[in-house]
Amino acid sequence: MKISFSNLKEIKKTDILLFPLFKENNDYQALPSEVAEAIEGLLKKGLFDAELKKTFPLTVTGKPYPLILLTGLGEKEKLNNERLREAGGSAGAYCRERALKSITLEPSNIGDSEGQITPFFEGMLLSSYSFSVYKSEKKTYRPQFTLRGIKGRTKKSIEETAKLIESVFLSRDLINTPSNDLTPEKLAKKALRLGSKKTKVKVLDRAAIAREGMDALLAVSKGSKNPPKLIILQYRGGNTGPVVLIGKSITFDSGGISIKPSSGMEKMKYDMAGGAAVLGCIKAAEALDLPIHLIAILPAAENMPGGSATRPGDIVSTISGKTIEVINTDAEGRLTLADAIDYAKRFDPEYIIDIATLTGACSVALGNEAAAAMSNSEELMKKAVHASEKTGEKLWPMPLYEEYREYLKSDVADIRNTGTDRSGSLVTAAYFLKEFVQEIPWLHIDIASVAWTDRDRPYIPKGASGFGVRLLIALLREIYNL
Ligand code: BES
Ligand code: MN
Ligand code: ZN
Repeated sequence: MKISFSNLKEIKKTDILLFPLFKENNDYQALPSEVAEAIEGLLKKGLFDAELKKTFPLTVTGKPYPLILLTGLGEKEKLNNERLREAGGSAGAYCRERALKSITLEPSNIGDSEGQITPFFEGMLLSSYSFSVYKSEKKTYRPQFTLRGIKGRTKKSIEETAKLIESVFLSRDLINTPSNDLTPEKLAKKALRLGSKKTKVKVLDRAAIAREGMDALLAVSKGSKNPPKLIILQYRGGNTGPVVLIGKSITFDSGGISIKPSSGMEKMKYDMAGGAAVLGCIKAAEALDLPIHLIAILPAAENMPGGSATRPGDIVSTISGKTIEVINTDAEGRLTLADAIDYAKRFDPEYIIDIATLTGACSVALGNEAAAAMSNSEELMKKAVHASEKTGEKLWPMPLYEEYREYLKSDVADIRNTGTDRSGSLVTAAYFLKEFVQEIPWLHIDIASVAWTDRDRPYIPKGASGFGVRLLIALLREIYNL
């Protein structure tokens, strides 16, 4: 990501100048007087009302910028981080849709302090993303940004934001990649690329997974020609924790023998969004040099039907020896996560955080506006909700009442992988995981509702959202007071 800092007067040539402004009381000093007058005229005549998320292009001649984009910030009193992100997002989207390559921001109305400019910039970056790897005419859109009048601490915060968003983009790229190009093996290769002095990456193949006794993970992968991989990353930036992050990494979820309806099945390439978020988080932790110890576990598999696939009614066991009756092969995520949770225990984690596109019921409950959070620790839940309020990645707590245990009772094994019917399936899925976690402070984030968007959102273009990368980093900051 190319970011530079400059004075407006020094700017040589730029495709567009972004000028965010409120409904009233704006500061135009940074602009040439004739431009300022023109803008004031527009506002006075009501041709542009500076409503949040609205933009208005203005052509100018004889300036190093042929275009000024008036970017609405709405009412000054209502301004907050999320609104700033949305405003930045609308400007970023305008530039992306027109493939404008060099973008300059004049932030005099936002204010140039760290807290004010960073969220606007974040929204602008997040919405500048595009995925065109598979278009014959490859036009990867990665604009250059210039910011005016940014100093000291703010500069640092802008640079950190850019690093964070790069990690969100890694996550989005992985999720958007179709399953024929992102098998468990290829996902492992992508993870290996994150290896460095501080980040060690290890990949277990099918034989090693079998030696570990991860029968549940194997069971999910059995119908596929693409073998499973257990991907483990260890980032050592400090001696805390460790926190173990587990990301659901089903590279394609057909449902297996309990096959899904074909309509919309193509989207099940995003069933590894949890794993992608975790990889993004490790990349960001390293880029931001966080002084903490993280372990990431991605149990990667493809869930396919086939002659050797797991059948409904089969019983599988996990590392801990607990047996699971597979009622529905489409409830595969929790099988892989159960084994990953058991595997995590050898690291003696301070916290286990899993993030997963686990249930369709998640969007039934919350639409596409929020992820669901479930935890066995009130303290951790509080921190997670606080982190979510900071990043704008909405998280809604759901209960894990003891009573849900009944729903998962099996006549023949220790537990079954689904409830008796669809009722409560968002929470019973989490309860299933809790049975494996036991006493370790744990947080489960179901992102099935938010990992993908079918329409452009204020700062998330259609497709993979990259939900979770910023949230996990904010949560780690919350936990360790960083
Ligand atoms: N990957 C799906 C959940 C999902 C659905 C994610 C839609 C994103 C969008 C998961 O593996 C699944 O199939 N869950 C089942 C569980 C059921 C069989 C108990 C579901 O939610 O339908
Ligand atoms: Mn499934
Ligand atoms: Zn799934």
